[in-house]
Amino acid sequence: MEWNDQELNRYLEENCDPQPEHLLQIERDTYLNTVLPRMLSGNNQGRFLSLLSKLISPKRVLEIGTFTGYSALCLAEGLAEGGKVITLENNPELKTRVEKNLSLSPLGERIEVVWESALDYIPTLEPGLDMVFIDADKVNYPNYFKLCLPLLKQNGLMIADNVLWSGKVMDPKEKDEDTRALREFNKLVSGEKSLQKIMLPLRDGIFLALKK
Ligand SMILES: C[S@@+](CC[C@H](N)C(=O)[O-])C[C@H]1O[C@@H](n2cnc3c(N)ncnc32)[C@H](O)[C@@H]1O
Repeated sequence: MEWNDQELNRYLEENCDPQPEHLLQIERDTYLNTVLPRMLSGNNQGRFLSLLSKLISPKRVLEIGTFTGYSALCLAEGLAEGGKVITLENNPELKTRVEKNLSLSPLGERIEVVWESALDYIPTLEPGLDMVFIDADKVNYPNYFKLCLPLLKQNGLMIADNVLWSGKVMDPKEKDEDTRALREFNKLVSGEKSLQKIMLPLRDGIFLALKK
């Protein structure tokens, strides 16, 4: 059977839970006031992240790439008591917007935003992460993989967004550095024996990898 992406996406959205009001507000504000609003996860993917978090009930979640705070709030939905999300963002221009957005939900108090480059900050973290969501600069995906894998707990989940990169990863004619890095990342994940993994064609492609 064939379908076009728009049709499929409309159907997926129709059958997905609606996003909570605070996330709808953040989505609207992001589309009105930021330059690349499509970076935001959106309803389908956000509900997926929330569901994964509720299945795991994590104590420690690391997100790489906060943007306007949408996905951090989704990941926080399943936190265990006393748990928190650390989210990394290196664009200080987003600070006022992120603070305002996180204050829209009580979950915002369980999110720590670190305004540093992820490559500098991740090596300072203690091991024992329950979830990692990789969603920042594509060129560094292989580095994020290498830095985060040893920090993940047994049964910890690594999630990576944009792994299909609009299909470019499958097209040998595409040779830009983001596409190359994503291909390398996908290879690293799929070849890693300590992980049970599956790539899903949700939105721009999501890799899920559980540490055995
Ligand atoms: C795709 S957006 C994140 C979207 C967000 N996770 C969501 O779903 O709503 C990627 C973000 O990563 C940030 N970023 C890029 N390189 C980074 C780095 N080296 N360290 C920390 N953040 C970075 C960008 O400024 C951008 O806001």
